[in-house]
Amino acid sequence: MRLAITGPTSGIGAETFRALVPLCEKVYFLARNPDKAAQEMEKLNPQDQQKVDFIPLDLADLDTVKKAAQKIQESTDKIDVLINNAGGIFPTFEHTKDGFELSFSANHLGHFLLTQLLIPQLLHTGNAKVINVSSEAHRAAKVNFDDLQFENTKYSAFNAYANVKLFNILFTKSLKTHYGDQGLKSYALHPGVVKTNFGKEANGIFKLFWKLATPFMIDANQGARTSIFLAKTQLPDNQNGYYYKNSKPSVPSSEARSEKYRDKLWEKSMELVAPWMG
Ligand SMILES: NC(=O)c1ccc[n+]([C@@H]2O[C@H](COP(=O)([O-])OP(=O)(O)OC[C@H]3O[C@@H](n4cnc5c(N)ncnc54)[C@H](OP(=O)(O)O)[C@@H]3O)[C@@H](O)[C@H]2O)c1
Repeated sequence: MRLAITGPTSGIGAETFRALVPLCEKVYFLARNPDKAAQEMEKLNPQDQQKVDFIPLDLADLDTVKKAAQKIQESTDKIDVLINNAGGIFPTFEHTKDGFELSFSANHLGHFLLTQLLIPQLLHTGNAKVINVSSEAHRAAKVNFDDLQFENTKYSAFNAYANVKLFNILFTKSLKTHYGDQGLKSYALHPGVVKTNFGKEANGIFKLFWKLATPFMIDANQGARTSIFLAKTQLPDNQNGYYYKNSKPSVPSSEARSEKYRDKLWEKSMELVAPWMG
């Protein structure tokens, strides 16, 4: 298996990475923090370390996303599994250096661009998978498609997060629509409510809720199970584009199943990443 994974420096991504490395011939470790990357590498045995290429990537800086895709393309013409795992909840409204709202870029647009740039490598095998780590939070989304990035709507960290987690599912279903007939499989998932670094920077009511929920959370090892299952398992063709929970198909919200929303998000995202696509 040739694997590319974002967010393998912490939590669910780190556990997913560690479980899958032994099954891989090559792993592209896409992360923004080289020190954390080095720490993760040190946990591997020397044989597995040889398989892993650290590639710098900050999903809030699309130049780095483009460079990361180029580095992968220089190294290989095929990827079997891309896991778009990185993400987080961001307490305040911020613009990235590209002028995008931070949560939108780090949770959706960066992965959208990365996946688009890697489509030739993903289509090469005729059976590759894109796995998008979403969340049950998508059910709380309240999206204004005329204001995806909270320019004219009051910013709420949780609302922004719920929206992007809905986008992860819409994007998954769009990938099936656009590339399913060329063999690409795409899946979204909810990992559970997992004790990781997630939510540590949150504020207000969400921070309180997260703190109170901590004793009931599963650990990152358990939280990685559905990602690992999807990466390893050959699934029936009719489950392409599905949303998973506890390693089983689950029905996402009606918004997540809306073809209108799916198409709108795809078109808007394509427009926004166009400067990095050439
Ligand atoms: N924890 C939960 O209960 C839960 C529930 C549902 C869904 N999820 C989803 O699960 C995924 C993993 O989260 P987690 O719980 O494992 O949280 P985590 O421990 O905070 O890990 C998040 C990962 O994303 C990376 N990341 C964040 N912003 C980035 C950026 N701009 N560019 C590149 N990498 C970036 C982080 O890198 P650094 O190490 O450099 O910070 C880290 O590797 C996320 O998509 C999250 O939305 C989590």
